[in-house]
Amino acid sequence: MKKLVVLSGAGMSQESGLRTFRDMGGLWEEYDVSEVATPEAWERNPELVNRFYNERRRQLQDCEPNQGHRLLAELEHDFDVHIITQNVDDLHERAGSSKVLHLHGELKKVRSSVDPNLILELDGWELKLGQKCPKGSLLRPHIVWFGEAVPAMDQAIDIASQADLFLVIGTSLNVYPAAGLVHYTPSACPLYVVDPERPPISMKGVTFIEEKAGAGMVKLKKLLVGQ
Ligand code: APR
Repeated sequence: MKKLVVLSGAGMSQESGLRTFRDMGGLWEEYDVSEVATPEAWERNPELVNRFYNERRRQLQDCEPNQGHRLLAELEHDFDVHIITQNVDDLHERAGSSKVLHLHGELKKVRSSVDPNLILELDGWELKLGQKCPKGSLLRPHIVWFGEAVPAMDQAIDIASQADLFLVIGTSLNVYPAAGLVHYTPSACPLYVVDPERPPISMKGVTFIEEKAGAGMVKLKKLLVGQ
């Protein structure tokens, strides 16, 4: 089977009711990134940071995968699909996708603030500030904050470099190193983009589907498998 590698972003989950970051009404219009999504913010004001992620976890409880997530999962019948997502929600997994790599962490997980490999599934949506890990340190959101390393990046580059087809869906390609993945695909690898707005991709041979994720995946599936 051909390897279809996907880089997804917040736009993938927009039709499920989760806000994007940089669109009109996006999260970064309401919150200052430096106040809620950096290690310094966690040191300075853990209550605010913790409240920000608790609120996003609580919203996620009311969200379901959308048609875009479901069609991507269905494409596993025709391709070896590897999803590399910038999203911290679990909607790809809940739609049935079996290979999902989270570059920026996972909302439903928390981790030790002294041992980044000590990761726990959070029971429910709320992390109570002060909860400790088995090593006795404060538990923190399992999120890659701005200024922190992206541990899964080498694995993501390895996957992208083996792509037969590459799909960019629902991301403004504003944030590196994730956005740089498009440059690791083999030169002959066709590139597809699904987004209502064309993201800044300077490469040639891009098939741009100017649609939201749900409608865009209907068109892409027809293009790739004829139905
Ligand atoms: N379907 C498809 N794409 C959509 C939809 C939709 N329904 N709605 C919006 N979009 C597109 C927008 O046009 C934009 O290109 O999704 C993209 C959203 O871009 P951002 O809000 O910048 O989100 P993203 O690219 O995922 O941000 C990357 O930035 O803040 C950090 O860690 C955070 O992972 C995030 C990273």
